[in-house]
Amino acid sequence: MLKIGVLVSGGGSNLQAIIDKIESGYIRNVEIVTVVSSKPGVFALERAKKYGIEGTCISRKFFNNIDEYDEALIGHFVEHKVELVVMAGFLSILGERFNKYYTNRVINIHPSLIPAFCGKGFYGIIPHRHVLESGVKVTGATVHFVELEADTGPIILQKAVYVEEGDTPEILQKRVMEQAEWEILPEAIKLFAENRLVIEGKKVLIKKTAPVLSAASKKYSI
Ligand code: GAR
Repeated sequence: MLKIGVLVSGGGSNLQAIIDKIESGYIRNVEIVTVVSSKPGVFALERAKKYGIEGTCISRKFFNNIDEYDEALIGHFVEHKVELVVMAGFLSILGERFNKYYTNRVINIHPSLIPAFCGKGFYGIIPHRHVLESGVKVTGATVHFVELEADTGPIILQKAVYVEEGDTPEILQKRVMEQAEWEILPEAIKLFAENRLVIEGKKVLIKKTAPVLSAASKKYSI
């Protein structure tokens, strides 16, 4: 059973998508052992509670610096024996310590097709505003492994969504969630749990079946 910890900051619709795919049996051998919010009182914590999942708020504001914040999060996840950290609409920044400790074991959902409309300052509704201003006809979502620099890690899955005439940022955000995010984030977790993701440099290879690891290739396995 793969133990996952989910990081959230808001409504938690992506968390819900993961819960639904576990409940339906589409994702097997995965347990959400903790949900951590960067903000108190968010609806994502209500969702966790409803399913008997432990939820808590660990806010950056509680700490003097990023190292202390990282240590607190690492401590919490280690205590819960978390093997994969899922950033599902988490709008806080993680530091060097966290990234080092959980190298290749943190994934993030981003609401655009990376490398477009991403990086520092591009979160929540903001990428959708820029998409509409730019005039592109296609956008989408990306799940990727997390590295220190925002939205730069190896890409696991992407799904495209058409921009339509009359879209507002809110309408587009909703369509990107429905058509892309809620599908590819649970799918990436399923692939990780089935040991089918292999990182080779900037690329993530998706194996048809779980790879049989030789000693030499072990360092690249997830
Ligand atoms: C989602 O659209 C997610 O892709 C985005 O925040 C939203 C959270 O919604 N994440 C980022 O922008 C991270 N850079 P949710 O709380 O309903 O899942």
